[in-house]
Amino acid sequence: MLAREFLPGVYWVGAVDWDRRLFDALIPLPDGTSYNAYLVRGSEKAALIDTVDPTMAQMLHEALSELGISRLDYVVMNHAEQDHSGALPGILARYPAAKVLCTPKGADLAISLLHIAPERLQPVGDGEAISLGGRTLEFIHAPWVHWPETMLTYLREDKVLFPCDLFGSHLATSGLYATDHGRVAEAAKRYYAEIMMPFARNISRHLERLAHQELRLVAPSHGPMYDDPAFILDLYREWVDGPPRNKAVVAYISMHGSTRLLTEQLVAALAARGVQVERFDLSSVDLGKFAMALVDAATLLLGTPAVLAGPHPLVAGAATLVNALRPQLLFLGVYGSFGWGARLDQQVPSLLPNLRAELLPPVVIKGKPGPEELAQIDQLALEVAERHEQAKLRP
Ligand code: FEO
Repeated sequence: MLAREFLPGVYWVGAVDWDRRLFDALIPLPDGTSYNAYLVRGSEKAALIDTVDPTMAQMLHEALSELGISRLDYVVMNHAEQDHSGALPGILARYPAAKVLCTPKGADLAISLLHIAPERLQPVGDGEAISLGGRTLEFIHAPWVHWPETMLTYLREDKVLFPCDLFGSHLATSGLYATDHGRVAEAAKRYYAEIMMPFARNISRHLERLAHQELRLVAPSHGPMYDDPAFILDLYREWVDGPPRNKAVVAYISMHGSTRLLTEQLVAALAARGVQVERFDLSSVDLGKFAMALVDAATLLLGTPAVLAGPHPLVAGAATLVNALRPQLLFLGVYGSFGWGARLDQQVPSLLPNLRAELLPPVVIKGKPGPEELAQIDQLALEVAERHEQAKLRP
């Protein structure tokens, strides 16, 4: 049984990808993922909401066969990224009457990314509604809540929100609903950190908009559905709008032990001053955990040795990722050690132009740290602790 009916005439027809371990050739997926597609039947018409990753298109086709769907009137493309739209060309070939409902920007991307024929596309406006007969799909444009073409679809009579990636989690489960709240909260936070955090301000605005919408179910395109929408909405409000915590993320590389000594001193000094620390060795980091730590951290401290007159490439890579993820950090610090030269104090911050964080005095030393250099690290920890006390942070 591939299709699963969760409301009369409304089915989950997605695919669970238990084995996938990497997304975007970058993001670890320790718990797999799912690509959720949904079929909505009205008394007159049927609509498919999103499709699946092209590698799993066969499962979607088999689910539709199982339900005996011989005609589809619409395919809603909430989002053009291929893990949801990649099976769309095959669906359109199978159902020649189906029109693709998407934003005007989505139409543009459907043509360029998927080579969909323009005559198959039916752009919809923000707030526009389409009747399936006794059931109404309402479209909510949500540009830059992820991509520029992103929209959400609301099934009015049943009060179900299909938000595509928003509120999703990379979590393969056999259950349709988020019942294990602890596990889902962890997976959803990882997902938020990796995918949604750069768009926090836009998401905040859309959370306000959704506050006026009556919701019975939230059915995202990854991970389980939420039959208690307040659970995920409250988490998002905390991640998007909550002030940072009294927490510092310390991320470093050490080649010959000097930066490690600085790191150990820094972590101990921060902890002694009551600052919570999450420490990451960037040579073996789970980027998802690193991103999660940044969601509510007030400070990032990057430690690097000099490599050929620049920061270690793994530190530079992590800084590039942080810059793209745009966490709401308040303070940024750089520390490290060099042998024969580098401008680490300038080079590392230059990789983070998107951050609005205050740059703390750097501690970049020559060679192995001695008592004087370790005292400088203590001073850096003191600066962090004092800044945290002055900023109104959560504990
Ligand atoms: Fe799940 Fe933006 O794709």
